[in-house]
Amino acid sequence: MTNTEETAALVSEAQIAVHWREEEYYYPSARFIAQANAADPRIYERFSEEHFPECFREYADLLDWDRYWHTTLDTTDPPFWKWFVGGRLNASYNCVDRHMEKSPNKAAIIWVPEPEEEATQAITYQELYRRVNEMAALLEGFCGLGPGDRVTLHMPMVPELPVVMLACARLGVIHSEVFAGFSGTACGGRIADSGSKVLITMDSYYRDGKVLDHKVKADEAVEAARKEGREVDKVLVFRRRPDEYHSASPMVQGRDYFVDEVMRDYAGKKVAPVSMPAEAPLFLMYTSGTTGRPKGAQHSTGGYLSYVAGTCKYFLDIHPDDTYWCFADIGWITGHSYIVYGPLSLGTTTVIYEGAPAFPDASRPWRIAERLGVNIFHTAPTTIRMLRKAGPELPAKHDFHFKLMVTVGEPIEPEVWRWYYDTVGKDEAVVVDTWWMTETGGFLGATLPAIKAMKPGSCGPAALGIYPAIYDEEGKAVDAGTGRAGNICIRNPWPGIMQTIWGQPERFVQTYYAKYNHDSASKDWHDWPFLCGDGAVQALDGYYRILGRIDDVINVAGHRLGTKELESAVLTVPEVAEAAAVPVIDELRGRVVEMYVSLKPGISASPELEDKAKAAIETEIGKVARPRNVWIVPDMPKTRSGKIMRRVIASISNFADVGDITTLANPDVVEGIRHHVQSQKLQRGDVPRQLTEKEMEEIRSFGNA
Ligand code: PRX
Repeated sequence: MTNTEETAALVSEAQIAVHWREEEYYYPSARFIAQANAADPRIYERFSEEHFPECFREYADLLDWDRYWHTTLDTTDPPFWKWFVGGRLNASYNCVDRHMEKSPNKAAIIWVPEPEEEATQAITYQELYRRVNEMAALLEGFCGLGPGDRVTLHMPMVPELPVVMLACARLGVIHSEVFAGFSGTACGGRIADSGSKVLITMDSYYRDGKVLDHKVKADEAVEAARKEGREVDKVLVFRRRPDEYHSASPMVQGRDYFVDEVMRDYAGKKVAPVSMPAEAPLFLMYTSGTTGRPKGAQHSTGGYLSYVAGTCKYFLDIHPDDTYWCFADIGWITGHSYIVYGPLSLGTTTVIYEGAPAFPDASRPWRIAERLGVNIFHTAPTTIRMLRKAGPELPAKHDFHFKLMVTVGEPIEPEVWRWYYDTVGKDEAVVVDTWWMTETGGFLGATLPAIKAMKPGSCGPAALGIYPAIYDEEGKAVDAGTGRAGNICIRNPWPGIMQTIWGQPERFVQTYYAKYNHDSASKDWHDWPFLCGDGAVQALDGYYRILGRIDDVINVAGHRLGTKELESAVLTVPEVAEAAAVPVIDELRGRVVEMYVSLKPGISASPELEDKAKAAIETEIGKVARPRNVWIVPDMPKTRSGKIMRRVIASISNFADVGDITTLANPDVVEGIRHHVQSQKLQRGDVPRQLTEKEMEEIRSFGNA
């Protein structure tokens, strides 16, 4: 009977009624509308279900194709959808060559180094063309890479990163960039999973005023990959400063090479872009999910590039003469789609900033925006909250004017939204809240800025050609305007959707489709709703409010961390018997992680063991995942079937009511844990503000999915 008791104690996300205050609409200015790429509401008709899938030709026609496709959408092997079948193109050609021919002297990339005294670099399309060609020649000639090979990049925010990505794309090589903040071990796991023989990295980079030694991680990565049976033949090392080497790690002879030295043989070389089938994979982007092993989301060339070009044009309103700055890291999907591939495919100028947002002070972004004449600004709620806290009045002191601002990655609180709109946008800019995920390539929910009103805290209606539905646990549709939450799905395929999980097609089907597909033999796309992994509510006006992940993922400052990954990292500490990760509501970072740990018999708790657990997370995943606190407890609260009740410890960490614990196997441990954790937190001044009803529900149901 334990299972029934367990389920009775749990309330599924889909059954939770969520109440919030309806926010007022904000409207775009006449000035914005007059210049917008999409100002005619009939665009929604063009992308209506009736015109699906041919509507997406409009996106694909933004690109130059070597050969036009014969089939817009092939659904013969569900849910492995194929877009623009028969078409051939090259992503590097589309992002570089074609603009170089038209406007060679226009800046493609403006790179702002973190040290303010270091000169900003403007890289024209002509210069980008030269660099991409030389790099492609090196990858082909020196590394022997060709179409279909994988290469892992572990690069910080420097222009060499998009250069390498585009050089790979030129050759049809599949790149897999790992966020530079991830550890060497995490990078090594991804090298092994993707089967890369080459790792491309940099000696060091700047972050928060410090020079970080990055090459040391390459050594750890190679070692970690080796443990999983993958030998790395070559490590290519860029130098952050020409001819200087800022790393304690020695260069390994016959394995490690400075790119600038090898490049001497490839200077001035050109490589013709390889004409790739639309369905050829362009890149892998690893992300977290329910189980420990990261998933390599595989994105296509034709469908993906069409989707990011189209969404950049209509939702970000990018025109070729805009100066666009997306303040994300290229190591995440946002950077791939909306720093590199989308903006460059449209031939605009994309700004890349190396460092921390508030270095050396919270005016830095506003100085950059003013100096470069940025008119489109794209960032995450975490950064907005932080800049607001550090200097709410600072934007007014700088003469920059955005026409459009984006928020992405987490739900934004209406209060924070309003500061963004009033103070950063100076009441002139539209705000586009874009909801999507690594798997989806581009936006799923967002307002078309000249056509739809803004509503703080809601991402808006579905993006063009996207038809969502919210289902409850039984698969019944949850209607708009009921205030009820459910699992948001996309009913149809779209060009930006991932093709599969690299090397794990069954897991792809299982993770995203199994829940709501009832006939695995069906060839009809209507039978294959894509499970996004978020809880959501739809208001009567059709706008969606995203409530957060339904799987075991904690969204820390916009970074997706799998609880299983965190727990496995802590379990590498030999003294640890059990570990559980829970989210804590945080004013600035959205959520932070706390770890609960129980020790093996005979071992006693100590601050050293807490530090060891934290260090294990830094080694296995990276500093981004460092938990705020590690609580060593005598025993975890558990169900009678032995499952750790994460909702109970999550409630304790958030000072929320622990709810009904009578069905636990060991209800008596709860009070002791509560007393210990909360008194420590009180002493440290680490008490969250009063939680909203929605946050309370999230915490109370954590780990139920
Ligand atoms: O929970 C949603 C949240 O971020 C998750 C996706 O994370 P990731 O794959 O790392 O991609 C981040 C960049 C797209 C989603 O499942 N999320 C993303 N955008 C929003 C959001 N939550 C609320 N509002 C958003 N605009």
